[in-house]
Amino acid sequence: MTSLIHTSNGKITNKNTSKNDSKNQRDVILEIKDLVVEYPTDDGVIRAVDHVTLTINEGEVLGLVGESGCGKSTLGFALLNLLKGGYIKEGHINFRIDGRFTDLTKLDATEYQKIRGSKISMIFQASQNVLNPLQTVKDHFLDTLREHGYEDPKEEWKNIITLLKRLEIPESRLDDYPFQFSGGMQQRIVIALALMLNPKLVIADEPTTALDVLVQARILQLLSDLVEELSLTMIFISHDLGVVAEITQRVAIMYAGEIVEIGDTETIFTKPKHPYTVALLKAIPNIKDETKRKLNSIPGSPPDLSKPIIGCRFASRCTHAIETCFKESPKMLIFGVETTGKEHQVRCHMYDPRFTNHFNNEE
Ligand SMILES: Nc1ncnc2c1ncn2[C@@H]1O[C@H](COP(=O)(O)OP(=O)(O)OP(=O)(O)O)[C@@H](O)[C@H]1O
Ligand SMILES: [Mg+2]
Repeated sequence: MTSLIHTSNGKITNKNTSKNDSKNQRDVILEIKDLVVEYPTDDGVIRAVDHVTLTINEGEVLGLVGESGCGKSTLGFALLNLLKGGYIKEGHINFRIDGRFTDLTKLDATEYQKIRGSKISMIFQASQNVLNPLQTVKDHFLDTLREHGYEDPKEEWKNIITLLKRLEIPESRLDDYPFQFSGGMQQRIVIALALMLNPKLVIADEPTTALDVLVQARILQLLSDLVEELSLTMIFISHDLGVVAEITQRVAIMYAGEIVEIGDTETIFTKPKHPYTVALLKAIPNIKDETKRKLNSIPGSPPDLSKPIIGCRFASRCTHAIETCFKESPKMLIFGVETTGKEHQVRCHMYDPRFTNHFNNEE
């Protein structure tokens, strides 16, 4: 049930959210456990997500970062049961609904339909693929309301208008078709569609990548404000670490289907441990420097996900790699809790006490 209300300062608040639901609350809302997602293809089975374990707290914005093809979108689609041509092979997605955890992997299509949009929703990258060119913008919203069983959604409609205003889409434009809007406006409409039923968790998959820098900045600001105002929990998928630094509290770095490092945003940016994270940070695009606009400055390429991988997935591109890295798969190691109270996890032999001494370049 939507319950957005207007406040005098132009912001919106969520009537259903009690004070206890604030950003500071550290209740787990989503717990992904050992999730494996595969795509069968003519060239073999691609394991796009390989035993991913991840916990997200209520009110948190978690960045999910990694090179193209590392499995970020697949993970997002798996959470919404929107995998095209793929399937969840193993694992659990425990999501808290009304105070109780439900394993989403056990839901059937009809049960999923009910929670998609109303409890978990996704903001897709390419608005042109989401918006129907033959439908007015208003009809997109009405269709979604109908799909969720609202026959006479007067109250909900008011809330949608409030949300659209907040996203700077005037009511007078609702009878227009998507092509009559700029790319930035289309993306804001897509955001409104994702938030209209007041979900708890939003997965934003590269929501601004296709837009120019100024429009991108404005949309990120709006999204960031809405996360705060509506007490949303968000997984923010991006290959752009610069953007992730601005909007997230915690960052998970993904490489070839695995999470290789996860920690609070400041730690990941100032004290990264995994050589892949270090390399990604060195490659942050700099809008002032044309020569550093491209992310791709890490030599080599990720492994073929349709073949069994022995050892560390990053070993062949890692300047620190030792023999063990090519033979043994690194375990996730946990740091930071005792010293900083914030968990920092890294999947790298360099930090494993069994092998640390074997590395020349300890960091
Ligand atoms: N429908 C599909 N059929 C077969 N393989 C797929 C399919 N979708 C994705 N893959 C493969 O799964 C792997 C992960 O892809 P995914 O799209 O999740 O990566 P990503 O991290 O989101 O990349 P990008 O940054 O380019 O969006 C890639 O190897 C990709 O080729
Ligand atoms: Mg993707």
